[in-house]
Amino acid sequence: MPDNAPRAISASLLAWYDVHARALPWRAAPGSNAPDPYRVWLSEVMLQQTQVASAKPYFEKFVARWPSFEALAAAEDAELMAAWAGLGYYARARNMLACARTVAARGGLPDNEAGLRALPGIGSYTAAAIAAIAFGQRAVVVDANVERVVPRLFALAEPLPGARPRIRTLTDSITPDARAGDFAQAMMDLGATICTARAPRCLICPLRAQCDGFASGAPEAFPVKAAKIPKPQRHGTMFWVERDGQVQLVTRPAKGLLGGMRALPTGPWSDTPPGLEGAPIEADWRLLDARVTHGFTHFNLDVALAAVTITAHSAGEGIWWPIADLDSAGLPTVFAKAAMIFRRDGCAG
Ligand code: ADE
Repeated sequence: MPDNAPRAISASLLAWYDVHARALPWRAAPGSNAPDPYRVWLSEVMLQQTQVASAKPYFEKFVARWPSFEALAAAEDAELMAAWAGLGYYARARNMLACARTVAARGGLPDNEAGLRALPGIGSYTAAAIAAIAFGQRAVVVDANVERVVPRLFALAEPLPGARPRIRTLTDSITPDARAGDFAQAMMDLGATICTARAPRCLICPLRAQCDGFASGAPEAFPVKAAKIPKPQRHGTMFWVERDGQVQLVTRPAKGLLGGMRALPTGPWSDTPPGLEGAPIEADWRLLDARVTHGFTHFNLDVALAAVTITAHSAGEGIWWPIADLDSAGLPTVFAKAAMIFRRDGCAG
């Protein structure tokens, strides 16, 4: 029977973290003073739905350009959205700016979970992570890593997502009073480097002696997951209107998918291909052979591409952007994919 007494678990994990913590740009070394709350907040918002390796260059770019809440609060909305382009989940960027402005006005982040949760873009996970990492508060931090590590550690038979309340209770039971930030990040590192979804590296795991999943002989059977419901398939068309080496861009409506981002004009997203519905101008559109596919959180999108070159400036609204400089427009990934194809396949409209 593994010894999974709470104190044995946190002590083994923290001893491992002291030696094996990943050096990440937003972190303080294990056991040292807490890092700058601005950097902790920025990293946690970026890491909400993004892997560490993808978030890192964005984090470096953001802190170099906007080193404090005050600096970020003074940024232009469009500037920030363009800098965020490629990270996805753009509501995060809008909330981030609203949050920076609130925090700059109040003179700093609240140092407790309840105060943090009241800010834009900070849910219960992020509030707990910031309270623990930046302010050393004991908080129960449950991220995707913890949702894998804890069910394994306790060989939890109940499937996700229903098991979430139980996982939280179990995580609470092993969270120590001291070094809460190190403990939370140690769980993340263990999940990212050892207790991985496939082929966990149990032989070098600091919690092997305490792990019911390892003792069961089939640790990768945990967490148990409920059957997945397939995502709906949606369809759309993107329009490339070219004129004098420039392409027409629009700013998407503030509310809704990719709200507030610069983008190519599109028609509606529908259950069946919408053809040229919603085209920005009446024209002799050329439909490209290539298509773009993209997975969003709640649906998969399949996009047809229609292009035209015009000579006179039809009173068209929107922004005319130099095609040679399109990388600086900060297009979200699904539009950047389309733009690459339009540029590659040319436009002989
Ligand atoms: N994922 C979310 N927050 C993290 C952190 N502070 N370190 C590593 N991975 C994380």
